[in-house]
Amino acid sequence: MQSRIANPSLYPQGEKSYRWAYNNMPTLVRVIEKLSDKKPLKGKCIAACLHVTKETSVLIMGLKKLGSEVYLAAANPLSTQDDIAAYLASQGVNVFAWRGESINEYFDCIRTILRAKPEVVMDDGSDAHVTLHEEFSNLNVIGGTEETTTGVIRLKALEKAQRLRYPVIAVNNAYTKFLFDNRYGTGQSTFDGILRATSLLIAGKKVVVCGYGWVGKGIAMRARGLGAIVIVCEVDPLKALEARMDGFEVKPLMEAAEEGDIFITATGQTKVIRMEHIERMKNGVILANAGHFDVEIDVANLKKFAENKGEVRKYVEEYVLKNGKRVYLIGQGRIANLVAAEGHPPEVMSLSFSNQLMSVVYLVENEGKLENRVYNVPIDIDREVAQITLEAMGINIDRLTEEQIEYAQSWVV
Ligand code: ADE
Repeated sequence: MQSRIANPSLYPQGEKSYRWAYNNMPTLVRVIEKLSDKKPLKGKCIAACLHVTKETSVLIMGLKKLGSEVYLAAANPLSTQDDIAAYLASQGVNVFAWRGESINEYFDCIRTILRAKPEVVMDDGSDAHVTLHEEFSNLNVIGGTEETTTGVIRLKALEKAQRLRYPVIAVNNAYTKFLFDNRYGTGQSTFDGILRATSLLIAGKKVVVCGYGWVGKGIAMRARGLGAIVIVCEVDPLKALEARMDGFEVKPLMEAAEEGDIFITATGQTKVIRMEHIERMKNGVILANAGHFDVEIDVANLKKFAENKGEVRKYVEEYVLKNGKRVYLIGQGRIANLVAAEGHPPEVMSLSFSNQLMSVVYLVENEGKLENRVYNVPIDIDREVAQITLEAMGINIDRLTEEQIEYAQSWVV
């Protein structure tokens, strides 16, 4: 067992954080308990490239309980909770992650977990899957999972190019993932990040949300709940119309740029907020990104064209433009909820990670039976996650009668 982490002595705080998350992730805990007797992952080596958070620690300890050996690297150079890394390392997990890795160190950590010759690869953003495909031609992988929208897009591109080397389950596409994690998880935690970083009032501000997918919807909804006037920018006419009917202003970013106080990107696209937008913005605006990669705000050009730059608060950088205006960037344009806060709350990660865990077991149990494709989470797993969550919340629901089941299958009214 080996690890490379910031500070092993942080493990007592990490253990407390692990317990806090554990006590607030009832679905995942039930799934682990249900599967742990059979040890379905016995002897399997798993490489996980995930944000190293207290919620992830519950998943990783669960994977161990089901019998596997886990190698863990971070899914972002700035998202690791060092106390959690220390706790997991103290529990026999091979952890290669610390907050503030350079880009080279970040990819070195990913390479290290791949050198362990994993049979299953779990990823968030697909840096591990892509590195494996580009640099590790010798590995024999049973299958992989992918946690996020951006990662699924990359894997589908590999599949389309007929280069995908093993089956991957798109955990992101489970209903019990995107409906809750992407929407309520990111909606709340993005504001958690912005508020912790800035300590400013949201009420009365104009919040511009770029992108109206599930993440953008969650952010727009929470911005409205906090008293903001919300403007949505979209490229897809369906989503733009939906945003309008949900009661938001919809306009091009070039126009919204002049009005907004806080700009949040959630598109999965590159260079969404560019200098031509930034130059039009008011003095003192805040820029934050909620997408997986730090490509949505054109930080490189912001750095290049700013006269001056400096950190004014933790995770808040001030850029002074040539026109004299000041722009504040949260967390270097990286995913704000994980950099400036602690990521999604445990209750939503409980659902997402139940899908992760059950998908890994599914891959192992179906070894050799699946094609090298990107699969959705089997609907039975999705339903089970929802059912266990309802039970944990003490919520009963109705059942169809025999007559209704028959009615639903018949052409006679
Ligand atoms: N992605 C978003 N929030 C997260 C969290 N709390 N833990 C792991 N991955 C996350």
